[in-house]
Amino acid sequence: MRVYLHALGCKLNQSEIVALARTFHALGHIIVDKAREADWCIVNTCTVTHIAARKSRQLIRRLRRENPNTHIAVTGCYAEISPQELEALNGVDLIVGNADKERLPKILEEMFPLLERSVSPSRPWRPSRTRAFVKIQDGCDNRCTYCVVTLARGPQRSRSADQILAEISQRVAEGYKEIVLTGVHIGAYGRDLRPTTNAALGHSSSGLRDLIERILAQTDTQRLRLSSIEPWDFDESLLTLWQNPRLCRHLHLPLQSGCDATLRRMGRHYSVEEYVRKVLLAREAIPDVAITTDIIVGFPGETEAEFATTMNFVQSIGFARIHVFKYSPRPGTPAAKMPDQVSPQVKEDRCRAMHILAQRAQSAFTKRFFGRTFPVLWETRSRGFQWKGLTDHYVRVYTTTEKDLHNTIAEARLLNTYGDGAWAAIV
Ligand code: 5AD
Repeated sequence: MRVYLHALGCKLNQSEIVALARTFHALGHIIVDKAREADWCIVNTCTVTHIAARKSRQLIRRLRRENPNTHIAVTGCYAEISPQELEALNGVDLIVGNADKERLPKILEEMFPLLERSVSPSRPWRPSRTRAFVKIQDGCDNRCTYCVVTLARGPQRSRSADQILAEISQRVAEGYKEIVLTGVHIGAYGRDLRPTTNAALGHSSSGLRDLIERILAQTDTQRLRLSSIEPWDFDESLLTLWQNPRLCRHLHLPLQSGCDATLRRMGRHYSVEEYVRKVLLAREAIPDVAITTDIIVGFPGETEAEFATTMNFVQSIGFARIHVFKYSPRPGTPAAKMPDQVSPQVKEDRCRAMHILAQRAQSAFTKRFFGRTFPVLWETRSRGFQWKGLTDHYVRVYTTTEKDLHNTIAEARLLNTYGDGAWAAIV
C-alpha cells in the first residue's frame, strides 16, 4: 500500500504524522511524497482557528483533485471536533478521532484487508533528518476560554521518560542534530505520572526539569529545544538547565495579550507584571536568549484602549519573533459566547498593526548579532546553492556555498538582514 501523509498546524501534529509514517513503514507499506502516487492519503488536521479548519478542508479537496482514485483518512483536532463537516465534504473515506490516532495504520489494515494483501516489499524511507519533533505529552488540564485544543485532545497524559529517552536516542542514531520537545502543555510534563506526590508537586515544573536533565545526561543529542511553554510553568527552578550549551537559548512563552483585563477574560494565570519578571529572569540567566510568543488580537471585549495597552507592552518586551492570531470563536469554548465580540474589520486592522510591530521586533533582534559568529544547523537548499539554517537562538540564517551543508552544524558569521533573518558567511 502506498501512503501519503500530511500534517497541518502545530509541531505536535507534525511529530504525530512522522510517527504514523514510521508505523506504516514498519508494517511494510510504502511512504510516498506525492498524493497522486498514493493508495491512501492520511491527513492530520488542525482546528485551532476557523482558518486552520478551512485549510484542513482545502487540503482534503486538493488531495481529492490531485488523485480522484486515492482513499483519504482524516484524523487530528478538526476530525475530533467537527466530524460531520468532514462527512459533508464527500471525499473522506475514514475519520479517526484523536484517541485512536496512533492506531490508525492498524485500523486501516483491519478495515481493508484486501489492501493489506497487495503490499509490496517496503521501499527504504528516509525522512529529512535535521530536527526531530518528539512528543512528550498530550492534552491539557487548563481551560483558556478561547482554546478548543483542550477539548480536542482531552486531559494531560505524559509519556514515560524511558520511552522518550529511547526515542531520542534512536533519532540521534539516525542522524538528527536537534530534538524539539513537543506537546500541548509541556510545562506540566509528569504531573500525571506521579499521582502520590502530586500534591507536593503542586504546579511546579519539576517533571519537565527532571526530563530535560535526563535527556542532556543520557543522550548525545547535539541540540535540545523546548517548544511552547506556558509563562506560569517557566520558573527559577528551570534556569540552571541552560548552563548546558546543548539546550537551545530559545523560549516560546505565549503571552496572548499584554493587558491584564484581557488576560483574565482569556483565563490566563498571570499578570503582565509577572510575565515581565519571567522575561527578565530568562534574560539574566540565558545570555542572547530568544523570547518568542503568540498574540491573539480581537479577543471578545478588547477595546481600543486594551489593544493599545497590548501593543505598548509587546513593544516594550523586544520579542525575537511573534505569531499573531486573529481571535476565532471556536465551538464549545466559553469565549465564543462572550459578549462584545470584535468585528472582523477591527480584528483585521489590529492584526495588521501587530504584524508590523512583529516584523520590527524580529529584525531588531536579528541585528543585535551582526558581526558575531554562531553555530548554525543547516537544513534546506533552494535557488541553486542558497542554504537556510537555524541558530540555537532561533535566527533564520542564509548563505551560499557549493558545499553540501545539509544536516551539518557549521559556524557562520551573521552579516546583515536577509528576508526573515540574516545573511551569513561560513567561517
Ligand atoms: N483564536 C485565535 N487564536 C487562537 N489560538 C488558540 N486558540 C485560538 C483562537 N480561538 C492561538 C494562541 C495559541 C496558538 C497556538 O494559537 O495564540 O498560543
